[in-house]
Amino acid sequence: MDKNKLAEMTKEGLRRLGKAVVVITSQFEGQRYAMAATAVSELSMDPPSLLICVNKSASIHPVLDAKANFCINILSSAQERLSRLCSGESRGEARFSEGHWKDASNGAPRLVDAQACFVCTNSDNFEFGTHSVFVGLIETVHVFGEVDPLIYLSGTYTRVELER
Ligand SMILES: Cc1cc2nc3c(=O)[nH]c(=O)nc-3n(C[C@H](O)[C@H](O)[C@H](O)COP(=O)(O)O)c2cc1C
Repeated sequence: MDKNKLAEMTKEGLRRLGKAVVVITSQFEGQRYAMAATAVSELSMDPPSLLICVNKSASIHPVLDAKANFCINILSSAQERLSRLCSGESRGEARFSEGHWKDASNGAPRLVDAQACFVCTNSDNFEFGTHSVFVGLIETVHVFGEVDPLIYLSGTYTRVELER
């Protein structure tokens, strides 16, 4: 495939990859940072770990690059507005105007009513193209409420109805 076609088809293919939306948070030199993300994956259970892919242009990137710890907060279907705030509709501290926030044990902000919050040590990273991949060593996990995550699919927010 030529380069343009490949980019177009990769985007089209990824529209079919439904992902739970998270907000990655960190704190550095007294400032809090938050970014909505879907490029998050389980890495290993031994040791329990996750990885996140962060664009080098994102405001949280230099903070993570400086080895600040982070939290991965899985949003609930009721937290779409927070995702919008954390993906460009607001900046800096204003991103924390929605939701109930506390400082986690690693120093990063934790969304108390997130579906789950993985409190991570910033353990490793590497660069690839436009992004850096950061490995989070999971130190503590909090869960809240029934399973009802916010899903991003085909360029829009949705939720899943579980068959019980
Ligand atoms: C649903 C959704 C998922 C996103 N996933 C990622 C991601 O995994 N990694 C990333 O670097 N940016 C991702 N973004 C883009 C960032 O949230 C957005 O560019 C953010 O505004 C960048 O941070 P800044 O405004 O602090 O520079 C996503 C945006 C949305 C709406």
